[in-house]
Amino acid sequence: MMKRIGILTGGSDAPGLNAVIRAAVKTAINVYDCEVFGIRNGYDGFLESDGVVPLGMEEVRGILPRGGTILGAANRGNPYARKVMRDGVEITIDVSEEIVKGIKKLKLEALIVLGGDGTLHIAHELALKGVPIIGVPKTIDNDIGGTELTFGFDTALNIATEALDRLHTTAESHHRAMVLELMGRDAGFIALQAGICGGADVILIPEIPFKFESIMAKIRERAEKGRKFSILAVSEGAKSQDGVQVFSREGDDIYVPRLGGIGQVVGEYIEKQGFESRVTVLGHLQRGGTPTAFDRSLATRFGAAAVRLAARGGFDRMVALQSGRVTDISLVDATAIPKRVKLEDDSVITARNVGISFGDE
Ligand code: F6P
Repeated sequence: MMKRIGILTGGSDAPGLNAVIRAAVKTAINVYDCEVFGIRNGYDGFLESDGVVPLGMEEVRGILPRGGTILGAANRGNPYARKVMRDGVEITIDVSEEIVKGIKKLKLEALIVLGGDGTLHIAHELALKGVPIIGVPKTIDNDIGGTELTFGFDTALNIATEALDRLHTTAESHHRAMVLELMGRDAGFIALQAGICGGADVILIPEIPFKFESIMAKIRERAEKGRKFSILAVSEGAKSQDGVQVFSREGDDIYVPRLGGIGQVVGEYIEKQGFESRVTVLGHLQRGGTPTAFDRSLATRFGAAAVRLAARGGFDRMVALQSGRVTDISLVDATAIPKRVKLEDDSVITARNVGISFGDE
């Protein structure tokens, strides 16, 4: 019988992390009479003196609807590339062996890791070193392979949709083109679905490079029919057919480059063509706050399933949603190919059918 397990939240936060933690702790205690330890700030917790905390029923009480993570997140917490100061100089070192030692010292029989692409890649690397690891797919971007959905996505989608609804009324009053820049990195799921749900006229996503002239054709076509306003849902990773993605910050060996600014580029282009435009960047509002009922449900199902998987010894695997059912797949398969919007997805076809332009025709 499994007696001690650990849980950590890696990468950026997403609504539903606390719901997973709560479900995992409750399942571990109720079903397996097992002790649970929370590792703070991603993998970093193994390296810090106060980085490990016991998690019991008391610690998880009331956290189901809370956004963020009670364990803290660290999206630069890669044990294979940790930045430290040595003799006044910043260097990058590999501390993965220390993490493995930390896990052994705690006598953890399983480590449940909640994370996106980066965290899950690291999880697999640690599994190769013998760590009994289980992944839970988390990200508002919904870009992890092998699972239909990640928790956090539905909450971000609802916030983005509400933002588009609000932009609609002011766009109509002022006869403007309103651009909403949305998160998602290299995947356009948030912009695609929010654009459909929020009645956007143009959706720009990384998977479908656009032409500036096509955006204008759509805005003009609407204006000619008396619809003197337009709504554009623009993914932060979108790029024009002859251009590149727009970044607000360069990357380094710790941080990935930070996307941001394409909304402004599109808005400025529209203005130069004689149409008044305004740009809104929704940013971290998409990640903060309480998860939707759907995300609470998915997160709870994932958390309980991860503990059941640990009890079966299903290591180096990730819980996943397939055909509406929670199952599990190998971390290798989950991280092999990131999930992207496909041109033949029915959502893309449907968006075109209802008159939405992707700026590509
Ligand atoms: O991966 C989740 C995400 O919110 C992306 O959509 C976005 O590009 C990125 O994280 C922002 O990261 P940060 O919190 O470091 O600004």
